[in-house]
Amino acid sequence: SGRRPFTVGVVGTGYVGLTSAACLAHLGHRVIGADIDATKVAALRRAEVPIAEPGLADLVGAHVADGGLTFTTDLAELATAEVILLCVPTPAHADGTADLAPFDAAVAALADVLRHDAVVVVKSTVPVGTTRRTARALGRSAVSNPEFLREGHAVHDFLHPDRLVVGTVPGPGEGRATATVTALYGGISAPLVRTDAASAELAKYASNAFLALKLSYVNVLAELCEHVGADIGDVAGAMRLDPRIGAAFLSPGPGWGGSCLPKDTRALLRTATEAGVDFAVLADTVTANEHQHDRVVRKIREAVTGSAEGSLDGVRLGLLGLAFKAGTDDVRESPALAVADRLACAGAVLTGYDPGVRRTAELGAVRWADEVGLVAKDAAGLVLLTEWPQFRQLDWRQLAALTDRPVLVDTRDLLDAGSVVRAGFSYHRLGR
Ligand code: UGA
Repeated sequence: SGRRPFTVGVVGTGYVGLTSAACLAHLGHRVIGADIDATKVAALRRAEVPIAEPGLADLVGAHVADGGLTFTTDLAELATAEVILLCVPTPAHADGTADLAPFDAAVAALADVLRHDAVVVVKSTVPVGTTRRTARALGRSAVSNPEFLREGHAVHDFLHPDRLVVGTVPGPGEGRATATVTALYGGISAPLVRTDAASAELAKYASNAFLALKLSYVNVLAELCEHVGADIGDVAGAMRLDPRIGAAFLSPGPGWGGSCLPKDTRALLRTATEAGVDFAVLADTVTANEHQHDRVVRKIREAVTGSAEGSLDGVRLGLLGLAFKAGTDDVRESPALAVADRLACAGAVLTGYDPGVRRTAELGAVRWADEVGLVAKDAAGLVLLTEWPQFRQLDWRQLAALTDRPVLVDTRDLLDAGSVVRAGFSYHRLGR
């Protein structure tokens, strides 16, 4: 028992699957990563990692080299696996419900190849009830073991989690399934939450939706600060010192985004609606986020034109930051792009620079620039939208000189007000 290595099959080598596979190999398990994308599998076999996560390429490289980590397109190779982790994506349908087609296809394909005693673990973020359904389809107990990885910190978060949540479906094999999953993480120290599968599934959605709620709260609070002459930095600073509130996720911004918070919040709202539960605070959380994009546009309009009704038609604006947060190249549901969309609708001409985002990214109306000077050149205003720390080190005096008018809206309160004002900017922030 205890710490013996397992043969682990990981189905899906996306963000969660690849991180889990590499980290489990690091913990000493023999890991087989399976994916239907042959090009991706071929690249992974050469230890080429498609996502930029600190430490991930090193782990993949080390364990591809020592044979602890292999990749395949053939699920039949998982016939030897004692543990299967399901890490297939669950994208959202237009109505907010999770699209379980890829997940269900993987489960159906596994049914024919699984060892009779293989323990099946659901790591994908799936609606309540999915793990139970999976157990039934595969004729055994199954485990819900959601992940709480942040983009940009995935390897760290996997190896140093705040908690391990292990939820099982009652039935034969349940005890062994729990023991196996606990042993799988034998090298990791974290509080263990043992529960039923439905609670584990819900805990994942509930956590992300709560973070979204916190952010919508602080974003609306920032607007209120502007109306009553208060300072959101000081208000949030005072709130942070109460450990019941917590210090994190209290910085206002252009709205919350990314591939998880928006999707999971909508999906939880949908689950509540289907269950007949009036979860109004969650509906408000989503609406407030959309309003936040409008609020930021209003702020930009006022800063650049000097009036709430001023026209942005034909006005050149430079965007600093396009990714949904710093430290990633990801623009999925990026609040920066949501703001950009609205600015483009108002006729603004947009150029954007981001230290992480590639030229090939889907940027809508924003023209990508590989250099911050190009964004500042002849701009009627600059808008900082992503909290990249390196923006603090920019030569703001030089940027001010390049602009047509040195107006700067910092939606992340990232910069030192004194130095940008000394550099010549009229400097605008949320909630002050
Ligand atoms: C989120 C959760 O934080 C992870 O715990 C979870 O595992 C993950 O989703 C997931 O479900 O896979 P992530 O999507 O990487 O992680 O992004 P966050 O770091 O949560 O940031 C979300 C958004 O909130 C970003 O747009 C960020 O800029 C914004 N944010 C965050 C603020 O506007 N203010 C803050 O104070 C903090």
